Amino acid sequence: MKRTKIIDILKSTDFDQKVCVKGWVRTKRGSKAVNFIALNDGSTIKNVQVVADVEKFDPELIKQITTGACLSVEGILVQSQGAGQSSEIQATDIVLLGACGSDYPMQKKGQSFEYMRQHAHLRLRTNTFGAVMRIRHNMAMAIHRYFHEHGFYYFNTPIITASDCEGAGEMFQVTTKNLYDLKKDEEGKIDYSDDFFGKMTSLTVSGQLEGELGATALGAIYTFGPTFRAENSNTPRHLAEFWMIEPEVAFYDINDNMDLAEDFIKYCVRWALDNCQDDLEFLNKMIDNTLLERLHFVLEHDFVRLKYTEGISILEEAVKNGHKFEFPVSWGMDLASEHERYLVEQHFKKPVILTDYPKEIKAFYMKLNDDGKTVRAMDVLFPQIGEIIGGSEREDDYDKLMGRINELDIPMKDMWWYLDTRKFGSCPHSGFGLGFERLILFVTGMQNIRDVIPFPRTPKTAEF
Ligand code: 4AD
Ligand code: MG
Repeated sequence: MKRTKIIDILKSTDFDQKVCVKGWVRTKRGSKAVNFIALNDGSTIKNVQVVADVEKFDPELIKQITTGACLSVEGILVQSQGAGQSSEIQATDIVLLGACGSDYPMQKKGQSFEYMRQHAHLRLRTNTFGAVMRIRHNMAMAIHRYFHEHGFYYFNTPIITASDCEGAGEMFQVTTKNLYDLKKDEEGKIDYSDDFFGKMTSLTVSGQLEGELGATALGAIYTFGPTFRAENSNTPRHLAEFWMIEPEVAFYDINDNMDLAEDFIKYCVRWALDNCQDDLEFLNKMIDNTLLERLHFVLEHDFVRLKYTEGISILEEAVKNGHKFEFPVSWGMDLASEHERYLVEQHFKKPVILTDYPKEIKAFYMKLNDDGKTVRAMDVLFPQIGEIIGGSEREDDYDKLMGRINELDIPMKDMWWYLDTRKFGSCPHSGFGLGFERLILFVTGMQNIRDVIPFPRTPKTAEF
């Protein structure tokens, strides 16, 4: 018999019909006469209740229906008498597809997230991770829908690259060289001419530079792919492998860019509220009971737009009034997470877009302001998360861009193609990067970025 997904069974009012469901046992309870089996197949956070009259089944089979076991059940869909569900399945046939021993690591409820991470291969079967993964999928759909509806083209940029977009030197090298027998020249340097690509290559930290090539031809593009950072940051907000969405638009200035960022993020949050109700309600109940409130709050308020210099003044004022930060505040410094969160959570109590940062703390490609000191950067700062988006208007003037490249000593031999966009029909353009997992953190209320991606990659962890 053809299987029906539990999400559809629970919506069905075709009572007294025969149905087939397949899934994993969440719990079994009952008496000597009747067993109630809660079955879940991942299609929804809700379980379907299977009612089994014990005398109709082999006692050996009944014994093997334990938490985690996989079953195929045929039975009659009936209206439920019990509270909390509208239908249930009166089982006629049960096949044990896979037994599950009492050493099943996900047996006990309420395990810590650390424990779950060590069992990331099985944690997906829990309510929390099921909810997070379904929301993650929905956010990916929302992102593609948003850009498609707004006339952006999905543009795929290379994962293996010879350029360091952010210039932070935090790249994972890609090589087929024999590391046990590395030859070096007289200066102790490695000769890459005989390596696979004939030059030193790495995993990309951002698709932006190639994204700009797309935008200055197609008008508006977005990337959505994996990015890699070999930064040794052991925080609840950093991954070594994360997914990034990078729109890039010709003829946009920084204000258009901010409008896009705000509209886009709100669309994603609204999509979650409209399409992930059951999962969000579960997370609101079990993980963070201010989650739904926070999601609505973001939708209902304009983001504050503030210059870096004004942000620093607010932080300095806070210090004067006795607020203690771990890191000192002064013009020119990069904001730490505590500073970003102070502005968002305590001062404005709203998302903040901070702009016009000192050029020294931002990447080479950002457009220089007339003051010669600040650049047209924009970071979107969110409650609980801190920076969720980083972006800018790009330097479209060849000479100014070249000036920055020289100041920062960026090797030109791998960047000639990027400069060509400023040589041949240059145009104002802007873009930003949204950290996909940071968006998922915000939308799920989860506390640790390791818990919103199926198999996290962080320093010293590459299991699964
Ligand atoms: O601010 P970032 O480094 O900006 C760029 O990479 C630009 N090239 C983007 C652009 O303008 N097209 O990174 C962008 C976003 C951050 O705001 C953050 O949300 C996320 O990417 N991010 C990380 N997420 C998880 N783990 C990390 N290690 C991250 N580093 C950045
Ligand atoms: Mg940034």
